[in-house]
Amino acid sequence: MFETLAAAPPDPILSLIGLFRDDPRPGKIDLGIGVYRDAAGHTPILRTVREAERRLYESETTKTYVGPAGDPAFCAAVAGLVFGEAHPGDRLRAVQTPGGAGALRVLAGLIARSRPGVTVWVPDPTWVNHISILADAGLPVRPHPYFDPATGGVRVDAMLDALRGAAPGDVVLLHGCCHNPTGASLTAADWDAVCDVITSRNLFPFVDLAYQGFGDGLEEDAYAVRLFARRLPEMVVAVSCSKNFGIYRERTGAAFVLATDAARAAVAHSQLVVVARITYSMPPDHGGAIVRIILADPSLTADWKAELAAMRGYVVGHREALAEAFRRRTNTDRFDFLTTHRGMFSLLGTTPEQAARLRAEHAVYIVADGRINLAGLRDDQIEPFVAAVAAVCG
Ligand code: LMR
Repeated sequence: MFETLAAAPPDPILSLIGLFRDDPRPGKIDLGIGVYRDAAGHTPILRTVREAERRLYESETTKTYVGPAGDPAFCAAVAGLVFGEAHPGDRLRAVQTPGGAGALRVLAGLIARSRPGVTVWVPDPTWVNHISILADAGLPVRPHPYFDPATGGVRVDAMLDALRGAAPGDVVLLHGCCHNPTGASLTAADWDAVCDVITSRNLFPFVDLAYQGFGDGLEEDAYAVRLFARRLPEMVVAVSCSKNFGIYRERTGAAFVLATDAARAAVAHSQLVVVARITYSMPPDHGGAIVRIILADPSLTADWKAELAAMRGYVVGHREALAEAFRRRTNTDRFDFLTTHRGMFSLLGTTPEQAARLRAEHAVYIVADGRINLAGLRDDQIEPFVAAVAAVCG
């Protein structure tokens, strides 16, 4: 059976977990996978998550299946968080999914059922798993310009030009906020322009919202999704609760479909449920129950928002401190772009060879494309990290 298979290449992000764990050097620094770590270098369980788990432990009466669409109360709570005032009512339907990646996969499967072989435009660069997930669903991927390494910003005009050249009906995958891996984000005015092109070219938006609340705030980070919900007839949105609730291993997310009317939304939803059924049958529910409990209780919700704001502030603080440390070390403002980026990540501008040298010579782990996870950096690691980058980059 397996003689035709070649060994899979290591995942550029996940392979760092094992390499870092097995590295015996003291002072090693892990800026690989996107998880938040506190000042002690620990990924904490939020106090609101603990409280929700306590309530769940006391109130849960069964472990029977939740069904392929998941818990409707969870889906409704997440819809409120994501769409807010722009909730499009019964034109919007959802399924609970195993994380944001699960949402991406079932939505890709739904698109492939609806329009087999349709081209999906993705930013250059994008999260490496986007490309694998879309390819696995049989959807051809085309990159559009996005990141400008010279400025650390977005090449908005080139992006819009490329999308103007897309064929009507093509799908456009967009990072709703906190672009992964670059950290470079679109402004509200840029999103308005993207929305105009989507409308004029009759494109179909596929939004990945994995970091709501980690950029500028829960409401601000939902700007694009809410704009599209108000102005566009159709879209799909993949949502992750991994980062903003800190429940990474619970695999909690949601896949939303917005259709032209309630009847079409119901049809699309029925197909989405089938894709979920044949992919993993039914989602896990522990994380979904945590989110539902937190969002159902105003005081728990308020406390969770405070915890999220603290995580966001911590990351923004690291951006300032890191840029300042680079300024001092290099006597240039070359790394000031770090302060304009949002979310967990930034692309540092290192080559794959320099990333490999950072690991080999300095026990500093970053992704080969130069992505660093600022949410994983401790204060006391800033100076050694900057020294290592300066040594490797000359
Ligand atoms: C990341 O990009 O580091 C996270 O989304 C985790 C992952 O699955 O890659």
